[in-house]
Amino acid sequence: MTDMVWEPQGDWKWWAHDRFGLFIHWGLYALPARHEWVKNQERITDEAYQAYFDHFDPDLYDPKTWAQAAKDAGMKYFVITTKHHEGFCLWDSKYTDYKATNTPYGKDLIKPMVEAFRAEGLRVGFYHSLIDWHHPEFPVDRVHPMRDNAEYRAETAGRDVRKYAEYLNNQTRELLTGYGQIDLIFYDFSYPGEDGKGRDDWQSEKLIKMTRELQPKILVDDRLDLMDVPGGWDYRTPEQVMLRKQPQVDGKPVLWETCQTFSGSWGYHRDESTWKSADQLVRMLIDTVSKGGNLLLNVGPTARGEFDQRALDRLSGMGAWMKRHGRSIYGCGPAPEGFETPQDCRLTYNPDTNRMYVHVLAWPFRALHLDGFGGKVKYAQLLNDASEIPIVPAERLARWGVDENVLSLVLPVQKPDVVVPVIELYLK
Ligand code: GLC
Repeated sequence: MTDMVWEPQGDWKWWAHDRFGLFIHWGLYALPARHEWVKNQERITDEAYQAYFDHFDPDLYDPKTWAQAAKDAGMKYFVITTKHHEGFCLWDSKYTDYKATNTPYGKDLIKPMVEAFRAEGLRVGFYHSLIDWHHPEFPVDRVHPMRDNAEYRAETAGRDVRKYAEYLNNQTRELLTGYGQIDLIFYDFSYPGEDGKGRDDWQSEKLIKMTRELQPKILVDDRLDLMDVPGGWDYRTPEQVMLRKQPQVDGKPVLWETCQTFSGSWGYHRDESTWKSADQLVRMLIDTVSKGGNLLLNVGPTARGEFDQRALDRLSGMGAWMKRHGRSIYGCGPAPEGFETPQDCRLTYNPDTNRMYVHVLAWPFRALHLDGFGGKVKYAQLLNDASEIPIVPAERLARWGVDENVLSLVLPVQKPDVVVPVIELYLK
């Protein structure tokens, strides 16, 4: 642990290098197929929700195909919902009957998934819900599906959150001891205050201590309600938003990852139509990395156990771009001071290779002027095909009266046939 307000405790170097991961939200909510919060939104009782448990049978589940799709998209780690707020466990926990092994499917889903992704070289992360809308000792609160049911509230008034916290603790230990090295854990989420739940309910300090003891390298998210506790979190998790700048603590930039959906729902949602295009998603990834963050992009598999076609199309669209432009993403972060971001562009920089990447979001005619780059670049090329981009000689710029701080590049008239063209600059 640390005395600093913020200092990451886990092994974060690989993560800050890899930048791009896959989130997977999978549970019983794949059957109603209308948002993972459906039990809450529609105030569904345990009895009625049982229908999804009784019919859970993802017969086409083949995690190797998932891992392959993630790898082809350029993703380097994945985070799976071991349990979401509905309380259903994807692994064979000895502390509950409410688990995949007791459904018609009858098998553990986590182990083969972890093995399949590891086999493709991806790191392993677990999302684990602090909230549990099925557990018999989880007190009904303002976020619970039964919150408006006065009778139910009265009947369950004796629930003991300490017993629930013990369950949470036991299950976390199971997850962190049963599957080898776990690289990251995403606890979700706290809502302290009146009729809410926070660190005392979850016993967050005990939980994070155990987490770090069992998995010394693990990275922990920021939703345990321990923001002000030294060592209480490793990285920030802004959700479904694009940031204007890198988050800071005490004026110091911190590790962060934005998690994003394809369509607004995390769980499989059959009828949701506000899907982002692959083009948009590529831009989101670039923007995030230019501000020193990671992108965790979510797929909600179907109840048959597949990624649906819309998800596959986006993943392959991103993969096509990543195949030729991964160099401007992996190992990259914000540009050092002094280099200004040209209009309609995003900069990323790799400190190990000393190369700068100019992502050109709107292709200009012929000339691209870069303030603060004058005299600092020895060679420029398009990243997609390594074709030279001529640099206008400094003497000529001087004759035109252009400031010596400026670097001018001569672009081809036609935009290269990629979603976002990138110019790779070898710095002196
Ligand atoms: C939330 C939601 C949720 C989703 C998660 C992802 O807090 O409750 O459904 O799993 O964020 O970040």
